[in-house]
Amino acid sequence: MEKIVIRGGIPLKGSVTVSGSKNAALPLMCASLLSRDEMTFHKVPALRDIRTTKQLLLQLGVQLDDFTPGTLRIKAREIIDHTAPYELVKTMRASVMVLGPLMAREGRADVSLPGGCAIGARPIDQHLKGLEAMGASIELQNGYIQARANRLEGADFTFDLKTVTGTENLIMAAALAKGTTVLRNCAIEPEITELAGVINRMGGCIVGAGTDTIVIEGKDRLQGIVHEIMPDRIEAGTFIMAACITRGDITVSECEPEHLAALLEKLEEAGLKVETSERQVRVISNGRVKSRNIETNPYPGFATDFQAQYMALMALGDSDCYITENVFENRYMHVQELVRMGARIRVSGRVAKVQGVKELSGAHVQATDLRASASLILAGLSAKGVTEIHRVYHLDRGYEHLEEKLANLGADVRREKDDML
Ligand code: EPZ
Repeated sequence: MEKIVIRGGIPLKGSVTVSGSKNAALPLMCASLLSRDEMTFHKVPALRDIRTTKQLLLQLGVQLDDFTPGTLRIKAREIIDHTAPYELVKTMRASVMVLGPLMAREGRADVSLPGGCAIGARPIDQHLKGLEAMGASIELQNGYIQARANRLEGADFTFDLKTVTGTENLIMAAALAKGTTVLRNCAIEPEITELAGVINRMGGCIVGAGTDTIVIEGKDRLQGIVHEIMPDRIEAGTFIMAACITRGDITVSECEPEHLAALLEKLEEAGLKVETSERQVRVISNGRVKSRNIETNPYPGFATDFQAQYMALMALGDSDCYITENVFENRYMHVQELVRMGARIRVSGRVAKVQGVKELSGAHVQATDLRASASLILAGLSAKGVTEIHRVYHLDRGYEHLEEKLANLGADVRREKDDML
């Protein structure tokens, strides 16, 4: 196991380039199953979740070429296995996104039902209801979803709630279904728009991605294309908040400022100076951050994936604020770790009350999930003294070379072998 060791108190300065988006790359890799031709992706981030998805695709019989860093070629000429096994799904629940493409192309899939995870139960009932609406029969046997269909048929399906991967899974299922599918009450995250755009360039016909109603005309086949993956908006926002918490001045390049609108608006309210241009965001801190309330919501609301990092920032706020987590029911695992560093936070149900303190102090802390890890990194960058973050494998799921990027911005941070755990 490894840990990250940070000596805090150094304002971050300089510029950082954002990697390709994890949450765009994962569905796009699954969408490669929709074609027999080669798909080529550029700006693929080097992350644990990407490696897990490669393992899963290889298991299905897909040919992969990932010899050029950042480039991934996928050719699903034939599918020799239709199983997403427990050991892969339990490490990465996004593996369930092979369901849609496998059902669309093969009419069969055996996918381990993902268990809960640190941030909540995270069921996939909406994914399954949508597939049933398209004619699939769904059985649960020995912890596996056994889905079968002669050929999926277009349907008019309304989600009960906004689900990002649920929307992505059903877009992929409908892309090769017989007839037209209308999906209503869809999530509108940018990664969904990215997926629909790629499928359209493969020869698909999807209208309305980025709105809550998406119409997909099923095709008989889709061809391979070359695509550069969009920037990771959550990584961009994490670096922006790292500048804020260290009272620094950084420029985040190759990002999409409009994907960060809710966060940037809130940070300006909290007293940060924000300058945006074509594909850059510069954020300049001028003193202690002002405490401001947030509620997390589906896009374009304040992203739940920013909540933990924002909480670290508000731990140093000039007064009190309330953070409400509306998307996941248990996304406060970072609270007790921040409290160990001197933060004053009390959780009641979905609401966390954060009373700002002048300073955090370095401590041993433990990562519990991906964005909680980022929250502890941010707290460590600001804290007086040394912070050691254990179980950083959580962090490696979603951040590429994070300590190098932070060190390039002036942070005193290094990765070490962890002999404590
Ligand atoms: C995606 O997860 C992201 N992951 C998450 O990012 C992100 O936090 C989340 O969307 C919300 O924005 C990927 O894109 C790979 P949901 P997803 O389905 O699709 C409930 C990260 O840090 N729900 O939009 O799994 C669910 O329990 C990760 O990069 C059902 O009840 O999230 C949750 O409360 C963490 N039934 C809410 O909906 C369903 O069938 C939103 O979940 C599906 C979801």
